[in-house]
Amino acid sequence: PNPVYNSFLKCFSDKTKTPQAQNVFSQTNSSFSSVLRAYIRNARFNTSSTPKPTLIITPRSDSHVSAAVLCAKPLNFVFKVRSGGHDYDGLSYISDKPFFVLDLSNLRNITVDIADQTAWISAGATLGEVYYRIWEKSKVHGFPAGICPTVGVGGHLSGGGYGNLLRKFGLSVDNLIDAKIVDVNGRILDRKSMGEDLFWAISGGGGGSFGVVLGYKIKLVPVPKTVTVFRVEKFIETGAVDMVHKWQSVGYRTDRNLFLRMLLQPVTRNRVQTVRATVVALFLGRADKVVSLLRKELPELALKKENCTEMTWYQSALWWDNRLNATVIDPKVFLDRNLDSSRFLKRKSDYVATEIPRDGIESLFKKMIELGRVGFALNPYGGKMAEIAEDATPMPHRKMLYKIQYSVNWQESSPEIERDLLNQSRVLHGFMTQFVSKNPRSAYFNYRDVDIGVNDHGPNSYEQGEVYGRMYFGRNFDRLVKIKTAVDPGNFFRNEQSIPTLPRKA
Ligand code: FDA
Repeated sequence: PNPVYNSFLKCFSDKTKTPQAQNVFSQTNSSFSSVLRAYIRNARFNTSSTPKPTLIITPRSDSHVSAAVLCAKPLNFVFKVRSGGHDYDGLSYISDKPFFVLDLSNLRNITVDIADQTAWISAGATLGEVYYRIWEKSKVHGFPAGICPTVGVGGHLSGGGYGNLLRKFGLSVDNLIDAKIVDVNGRILDRKSMGEDLFWAISGGGGGSFGVVLGYKIKLVPVPKTVTVFRVEKFIETGAVDMVHKWQSVGYRTDRNLFLRMLLQPVTRNRVQTVRATVVALFLGRADKVVSLLRKELPELALKKENCTEMTWYQSALWWDNRLNATVIDPKVFLDRNLDSSRFLKRKSDYVATEIPRDGIESLFKKMIELGRVGFALNPYGGKMAEIAEDATPMPHRKMLYKIQYSVNWQESSPEIERDLLNQSRVLHGFMTQFVSKNPRSAYFNYRDVDIGVNDHGPNSYEQGEVYGRMYFGRNFDRLVKIKTAVDPGNFFRNEQSIPTLPRKA
């Protein structure tokens, strides 16, 4: 007998007027582990010592979500909401306090309306499913969102969302029309009934502080019938330093149809330690055009037509996900949810506002080699991003040249390796202080990183929240706190990096 389970289940079944045992899992339920693990995307939080929720609830309708909120509130557990489970630090499914997980993976409806150029996408859908459903109806529409197809709509869109269409169309949240949310009182609200403040907050300020996002209405964007992709590598010995140095001034300024991601990775080549710099690109146009453009703007890359492949936009999404042979692969592969792997990983982020000098790039490469494992993904901004006001959405980092993602993955389950690699990323982050944005140093909310501060929601909750909150949201933090205080004054929706309420006046 589990009193929490019994009491929750009774309330949930009463409110939904149906027996709900198949949608509520306690730790003794035989499916508990498989339901929990199905959406854990970081093996660091999939161990026997990882804290487990007291209950997992898997709603099958919007009204189930509303009932779950109302029934969980009096029980005083931390209430974690999970859509795709891609939170880099596992905040949607771990907690060091007793907690529930509300898992939205059953709410995955997608309705695409090509005539209207819009779609309603449910929080539990994945980005790959969104891209596939658009492609089913039109070969000349897309949506600017993340590159990894298994990322969930709920976390991704509530936290900003970007991908390789960013320079032309901005973030995912720059292309929202409407949203549906369940608030702390169990009400199902749309943009009109929630009001512009709350709609603004869940357009990049993170859903987890404000309610349970049920879904968004998005604006589709036009993509040409033919796009071009390519990948070109250089090493230190073959000109990587000059290429990366020059890329800094080209990536954010070039034609906004071109997205030139730069990957940096310490590697061993011909028995020598070096850094590999790989440009991975999407061009919304034909190969000839991008080759002649980059011959002028970035000759250091030495791009040739034979490096390029032309394809449809949907195929390019498959290609970017490293599905080789993208022209013959089954397009339905993005509907596959049965992932059989989850790696151990750590991510951090930074923004660069002024170019790093050439000798700075050299010293960075030296540092990367010395540390050995941590890589970078550099994502250029500019274009549409620079035209959007810093307070248009909670994500303020609009005028940056590029964003850095620190990235390290490993396969071995070993506390020593984990300690070493987490430490390597912190050391590299420390080293980068001289080159990156300051006062405050900025970070991207969707690249969750608990190293930059956590909140215990005790008496210093506001001060604790301000530390990571200013890094993620800059001055927009103040508006987020006001909205949070108005819509959830009791701080029911909270996690280690949620928006705090305003401190009560003494
Ligand atoms: P998850 O379910 O873990 O939720 C993340 C956070 O949002 C949690 O705090 C959770 O409580 C909250 N939340 C989730 N659903 C909610 C809902 N319905 N209502 C309220 N709160 C909710 N980012 C990017 O911008 N571009 C990219 O290309 C990528 N690529 C990428 C690849 C891989 C492999 C990973 C693991 C991650 C990324 N990301 C990314 C980061 C990604 O955007 C970020 O982790 C999202 O928050 C993930 O959303 P999920 O719904 O999958 O996560």
